[in-house]
Amino acid sequence: MAEKKSGERPHDPKFPEKFLNFMRSGWGPSELDVAESEQAPFTARRREAVSAAFPGETVVVPTGAEKVRANDTFFRFRAGSDFAWLTGDLDPEGVLVLHPNGSGHDAVLYRRPRKGTDSDEFFRSAKYGELWIGRKLSLEETSVRLGVEVRDVERLDGDLTGVERGKVRVLRGFDGAVDARFAAEEATEDAEGKPQLTRDAELAAVLSELRLVKDSWELAQLQNAVDITVRGFEDVARVLPTGGPIAERTLEGVFGLRSRVEGNGLGYDSIVGAGSHATTLHWITNDGRTAPGELILMDMGVENNHLYTADVTRTLPVSGTFTPLQRQVYDIVHASQQAGMDAVKPGAAFQDIHQTCMRVLAEGLGDLGVLPGSVEEALDKDSLVYRRWTLHGFGHMLGLDVHDCAASRPEHYYRGAVQEDYVLTVEPGLYFQANDELVPEELRGIGIRIEDDVRVTADGCENLSAGLPRTADEVETWLAAQREAGPRLATPVES
Ligand code: GLY
Ligand code: MN
Ligand code: MN
Repeated sequence: MAEKKSGERPHDPKFPEKFLNFMRSGWGPSELDVAESEQAPFTARRREAVSAAFPGETVVVPTGAEKVRANDTFFRFRAGSDFAWLTGDLDPEGVLVLHPNGSGHDAVLYRRPRKGTDSDEFFRSAKYGELWIGRKLSLEETSVRLGVEVRDVERLDGDLTGVERGKVRVLRGFDGAVDARFAAEEATEDAEGKPQLTRDAELAAVLSELRLVKDSWELAQLQNAVDITVRGFEDVARVLPTGGPIAERTLEGVFGLRSRVEGNGLGYDSIVGAGSHATTLHWITNDGRTAPGELILMDMGVENNHLYTADVTRTLPVSGTFTPLQRQVYDIVHASQQAGMDAVKPGAAFQDIHQTCMRVLAEGLGDLGVLPGSVEEALDKDSLVYRRWTLHGFGHMLGLDVHDCAASRPEHYYRGAVQEDYVLTVEPGLYFQANDELVPEELRGIGIRIEDDVRVTADGCENLSAGLPRTADEVETWLAAQREAGPRLATPVES
């Protein structure tokens, strides 16, 4: 073990008593002015929705702990999304429990207390001590901030004493101790042999499904994440030279700077694909460089300070203008995306939006002359050969996670219909691999995706990322304007 439970490490010095006593004294108060957060009324309503879904049952939702990177160093902690959604608490090691109370549930957040100047951990624990990691909220302050009862996590075990396994649901996979306390359930099948969700998996599904509709606070967070992302793309366009090569990692870094200065960081590793790297869907090695005349595909999203993320892709012509062939492919992808956006409205089946986008792509592939047969043959469900060049679906839900609501049951997500205030991406693309011998040479190495984040409105959708250009002409004009404006350094915004 690199670290004892107290947070001390094996190589920490054995301090003399005189030093210990000296360190225990002489510290003044570190008052904080804590008020209830704007989010608190929203998290309370979200907890009520979970309470209503599981009457009479105990519900346990942990956030997890910091993961070891090496020895006594850790990856930066990122709260569990369901836990954050229900509490607004972004610190590690918390567990939310909904205790049934007869008419509903009492919500209690169990947390590790702060290690301030009244404890030796204050100066001895690199992991928990405030001398090392800064002032944390006390249990009382946390309760005021989040608007929920907060107890010392040491009480969790005792408070769960006597809770029957059949009357508790646990969000598994976040906290080893919580998982161990409640044995995993046996998977079962229905009469037709179809696998059934365990009760715990059903909790994960219900949480995911409740998160499909974004409340007004969440919509504001998503718009904030997208707005920062738009500024990040502008920053990148401003340093993208028309002629000379620039490293993909330089562009990745410029966007990363914006993400960290204005937000919490990245919602996912940035994909920065110059030239044929654009045809690799998850190109995050980013060790290439731009070349004049080529395209560069960038799929980047900022995670804001409340952990909501954007997910945006733009494909830019390095030289400033698309070649006729690049423009032809770009226009196909744009037409597909526009058709997808036009199809998004409450009640629209997720699969129908997909088919709408894919039909436009398949028709475009037909126009490019690469399909082995007709468009209809390519689209036939027993063929789908067009997918060699489209590779992925039209989009996905977006929120606290880039691929949000992923534990939802299919009938509520990709086999269901979208509803008002869902937020999703619309992101068709065409990808011609550099070694694809089934397409003309001039298409090889071209990869184009256009990805925007849309909110489903009462009668259609609103493009949250409309701050970035989408058509080929708009892209060229915008890129020229960014270059004209010149580089700028991301600086913190006043909040
Ligand atoms: N950036 C990942 C995705 O577009 O799904
Ligand atoms: Mn996406
Ligand atoms: Mn993306």
